[in-house]
Amino acid sequence: MSVTTGTAARPEAVLRPLAGPARTAVRWAVRHGLPAVYLSRSARRGDLVGRLMRDPALRGDPYELYEQLRARGPLSGSSLGLVTASHPVAQDVLRSDRFGVGWDRTGAPRVIRWALDFGDDPAAAGVAEPPSMLVTDPPDHTRFRRLVSRAFTPRATAAFEPAIRRIAERLLEDLERREGAVDLVHAYAAQLPVLVIADLLGVPVERREDFLRWGAAAAATLDPGLPLRRYLAAEKALRAMHRFLAEHFARLRREPADDLVSRLVTLPPAEALTDRELHATVLLLLGAGFETTVNLLGNAVVLLDAHRDQWDALRTGAAGWDDAVEEVLRIDSPVQLTGRSARSDVELAGRTVPAGTRVTLFLGAANRDPDVFPHPARFDVMRPNAREHLAFSGGIHYCVGAGLARLEGAIGLAALSARFPALRVAGRPQRRDLQTLRGFEVLPVTLR
Ligand code: HEM
Repeated sequence: MSVTTGTAARPEAVLRPLAGPARTAVRWAVRHGLPAVYLSRSARRGDLVGRLMRDPALRGDPYELYEQLRARGPLSGSSLGLVTASHPVAQDVLRSDRFGVGWDRTGAPRVIRWALDFGDDPAAAGVAEPPSMLVTDPPDHTRFRRLVSRAFTPRATAAFEPAIRRIAERLLEDLERREGAVDLVHAYAAQLPVLVIADLLGVPVERREDFLRWGAAAAATLDPGLPLRRYLAAEKALRAMHRFLAEHFARLRREPADDLVSRLVTLPPAEALTDRELHATVLLLLGAGFETTVNLLGNAVVLLDAHRDQWDALRTGAAGWDDAVEEVLRIDSPVQLTGRSARSDVELAGRTVPAGTRVTLFLGAANRDPDVFPHPARFDVMRPNAREHLAFSGGIHYCVGAGLARLEGAIGLAALSARFPALRVAGRPQRRDLQTLRGFEVLPVTLR
């Protein structure tokens, strides 16, 4: 008898310390492990999207595969549901209120629903997990977006111009002192956006190396099918970011300053965000603020190195940096894909898309749609309609920081070319091994 009574309490006590690792394992399995198995199997059967998601070489250069997708028509089936490489179809989906970002999980098998609930952990939530506005539909999306968009109006963005210039010049002065080959991503392309967003969010710039390290690891969670080791590194980074944010919020509640996060933590009760909403919103701003713009700058330098006449035209004022930024965003988009789900049965590209169907939009492919951009693989900073690209998405989720990113791109590149007109790529740039985000991890250059 005594044995039975004694063991009744024991399993819980034994299991408690295992709950964290068990939750992590379930989170990984349902979000990455199962999709990886499924995508690999689809890839072996020849599914184009499965191949794209599982083959690192295709991730490195997806553009030929995008053309194969395009050849199948404006909307085709794949292992990820429907997919499109078409500019007008992607644009229609993004602008339509018949599509949303939320996923109705009621149709999912019970075990999947259980795994999603069990694995849910706010302390490890990534930028694409609810209640991040990126994956939230109205009315909550409207509420979050309104709170942050005040800081990104054209006037507020323009007011950042002197700060961006000052930061760029300071970084370039540091570069002046360097000899030999330099990794331009680490020394410049990553530093500029992280310093700008730190300023905007009132976070201490001394922590910037932490942000860069955390951001680099966490960015991988945007991709489906991460191997366990990379997922664990990403989760560790996310936990560190949430711990940092909790301390940052507490500090600003005690001593609010004149920045966006101070405003968010001191909202009147009627407007106040819950703790989870606050974490999701600021984590997204911090991550989106530098994880994408670094790619714009790096991609631009590599493209302009390969098109030296255009670098010279820009440097001497014969072409404009604003236009160059648009063309870089178009031809090598820092965010390659996004997705939406049909909220009801909807007509799209001549077929009926049943409610609940996922449509993956390859923005990087839509931006090379030959019906919109003649000779789409040709890099041309004078292209008259480059700005029609979908690199910042469209509709209600259109990038809130687009104006700031454009400014950082134009100022950052103009200042770089003015200071180092003879800058050349030296050696082989290394791409980040990511699917959703596209850019360089290492970019060796000589400055003189
Ligand atoms: C070159 C740089 C950038 C690119 C290519 C980019 C791209 C994007 C894209 C494609 C989306 C929408 C994704 C979707 O529709 O599913 C988005 C949303 C967003 N971006 Fe950016 N972004 C950049 C820079 C920035 C910056 C600098 C910030 C902030 C300071 C920022 C903040 C956001 C936020 C908060 C959202 C969510 C908007 C919403 O869901 O309503 N982004 N961005």
